[in-house]
Amino acid sequence: MGALKSFLYGLTLLQVIVSAVPVNREIGIPRYFQRQPYTRHNLTAATVQSELGLFVSNGTLIFGPSSSLWENATERWNTFVRPQVQVVVQPARESDVSKIVKYCNDNSIEFLARNRGHGATTSLSAFDGLEIEFSQLHTITIKEDGKSAVFQAGTYGGQVIQTLWDQGYVTTTGGTPCVGLMGVALGGGHGRYEGLYGLISDNFIHLNVVLADGAEVGVNATSYSDLFWAMEGAGHNFGIVTSAEKEIYPREIDTWHFHNYVWSQDKLETVFEEMNKFHKSYNGTTPPLMGVNFGSIVIDPSYSQAEAIIAWGFHYAGPAEDAEELLKPFNAIEAMSSTQGDMSYPEVAGVTGDDCVSGGYAISTVMTQTYNITTERTLYNHFNEKIKQYPELAPTALLWHEGYANAATQAIDSDFSAYPHRDENHLMLFTTTVPEGSDLQEPAEAWAKEVWDLWNGGQPERKPQTYVNYALNHPYETLEAIYGYEPWRLERLRGLKAKYDPQNRFRYYVPILPQ
Ligand SMILES: Cc1cc2nc3c(=O)[nH]c(=O)nc-3n(C[C@H](O)[C@H](O)[C@H](O)COP(=O)(O)OP(=O)(O)OC[C@H]3O[C@@H](n4cnc5c(N)ncnc54)[C@H](O)[C@@H]3O)c2cc1C
Ligand SMILES: *[C@@H]1O[C@H](CO)[C@@H](O)[C@H](O)[C@H]1NC(C)=O
Ligand SMILES: *[C@@H]1O[C@H](CO)[C@@H](O)[C@H](O)[C@H]1NC(C)=O
Ligand SMILES: *[C@@H]1O[C@H](CO)[C@@H](O)[C@H](O)[C@H]1NC(C)=O
Ligand SMILES: *[C@@H]1O[C@H](CO)[C@@H](O)[C@H](O)[C@H]1NC(C)=O
Ligand SMILES: *[C@@H]1O[C@H](CO)[C@@H](O)[C@H](O)[C@H]1NC(C)=O
Ligand SMILES: *[C@@H]1O[C@H](CO)[C@@H](O)[C@H](O)[C@H]1NC(C)=O
Repeated sequence: MGALKSFLYGLTLLQVIVSAVPVNREIGIPRYFQRQPYTRHNLTAATVQSELGLFVSNGTLIFGPSSSLWENATERWNTFVRPQVQVVVQPARESDVSKIVKYCNDNSIEFLARNRGHGATTSLSAFDGLEIEFSQLHTITIKEDGKSAVFQAGTYGGQVIQTLWDQGYVTTTGGTPCVGLMGVALGGGHGRYEGLYGLISDNFIHLNVVLADGAEVGVNATSYSDLFWAMEGAGHNFGIVTSAEKEIYPREIDTWHFHNYVWSQDKLETVFEEMNKFHKSYNGTTPPLMGVNFGSIVIDPSYSQAEAIIAWGFHYAGPAEDAEELLKPFNAIEAMSSTQGDMSYPEVAGVTGDDCVSGGYAISTVMTQTYNITTERTLYNHFNEKIKQYPELAPTALLWHEGYANAATQAIDSDFSAYPHRDENHLMLFTTTVPEGSDLQEPAEAWAKEVWDLWNGGQPERKPQTYVNYALNHPYETLEAIYGYEPWRLERLRGLKAKYDPQNRFRYYVPILPQ
């Protein structure tokens, strides 16, 4: 029945295309196999509706800025990222995506996939065209054997965590509920289950992909395996995933223990020394059940307007007693405040909270293996000086330190996938929001660069390392820092670009080839 329907539908579609699309008489190639020499800057939803609307499934939405759906479909976490979206298409079925891409190619329209809009890289601002928005493809289907599930392109962190939890499972996702699953996963994907199960992309079993030319292909370890390798870490540059099958795990851990500390600056050296010991305690990583610890150097006005505090939170997959055993060294550091408790996994992951405030962000980011204590002190003093100079940035400026438990990530060979940073233990970010209408963007960006220099100066024997999903497209972020220094990595990625995306259609998210 289904097969018959799609056969008939396919036939009708073919007839429609043949009758609706004019043929280039001169060389006898139908127009839809050619690129037009111009870019359609005057694209309107009405035009796309009248042209593409014929081919896509019922329920697919095509709209422009006048639609009430526009704002949610185009909003960006980082408002300094400004892709020129002219028309949004929300496919109702996965099979529509290929038709949308072919239509765009046929008409020289640029296209961009959007999951949850948290991509922060300013390379997205070069985009001008049609956005493919996935909020209608939001289904999660758990396979009968309970070992994997299929996640459609529109699923996102909080939804994945809550849906699986309710049915007795967990899986790897980003640590933050608001972010997409696919946007994160295609760059590797760090999160609380990394210590036990690796990166999000390490858990991929099969990807349904639409290639740059609109072809629908199945990508996995035995089909397009070269592309599979690339899509696990550099995926945004290679195709559109309409759905992904990935591993899931029985929900064995009922509660997570959290413990938050606030330390004054005089404890900085002790805190970072203990942190380094802590991360070495488990063969150089961190105990796999200590899913994550997040630390910030930040102004909390309830302590001081001028002197930053050190705030650190630990999330442990298991009972308080086991967690507190590991946390002894931190309990021994006198804190100004300390709170702890036990929660379900969705609660500790914050699925009900709204932790993703959008704004104009100045950001810089590094990865390191350890914390350089001298550097952290320098950064701390630098932070307070900057706050004095730019008090308007005090409410949002943040030196953020992440320590995901990464034993399972590190247990995988580095050449297993395009993700090149398995040796790194820490992700760090400087972020601040530039108040709207202020002239502080330039000083905020300068601050970000100074932080980047200081953090990298703290590992003089090593080259800068940048996580693709945190990369900003700063001139000081090199492709090698992002995609790996071993020359074979970028060579291999460029070779795969030539094979699968020769026209460089996927060039808006941390592009491997220049825009
Ligand atoms: C508040 C916040 C928290 C974060 N937390 C984490 C974290 O815990 N762990 C972590 O690893 N990273 C984290 N990140 C970084 C995150 O991985 C990136 O910002 C990522 O791009 C967000 O994905 P998105 O779907 O929300 O964004 P989008 O902007 O929608 O997507 C980013 C890019 O992914 C591509 N893309 C999206 N969907 C598809 C698809 N189906 N097929 C092909 N390409 C696609 C597109 O090129 C798109 O431009 C965080 C970022 C923010 C802002
Ligand atoms: C869009 O612009 C092209 C080229 O300038 C023009 O030929 C076409 O008629 C315009 N289409 C619409 C719908 O305005
Ligand atoms: C398309 O969907 C609408 C609303 O869901 C429905 O009323 C209509 O009958 C559908 N049309 C076709 C051709 O399936
Ligand atoms: C936009 O998103 C918000 C938050 O998810 C939701 O409450 C609201 O209904 C959405 N608006 C529309 C028009 O869909
Ligand atoms: C790999 O992809 C091919 C082609 O789509 C498919 O036939 C095969 O079942 C897939 N294998 C897995 C393990 O999903
Ligand atoms: C550390 O690594 C060794 C060798 O790989 C392994 O045998 C041992 O179990 C590991 N220890 C821990 C705590 O994981
Ligand atoms: C720590 O950083 C300082 C510069 O801030 C540098 O001189 C020193 O060599 C670094 N220490 C290590 C162990 O890398």
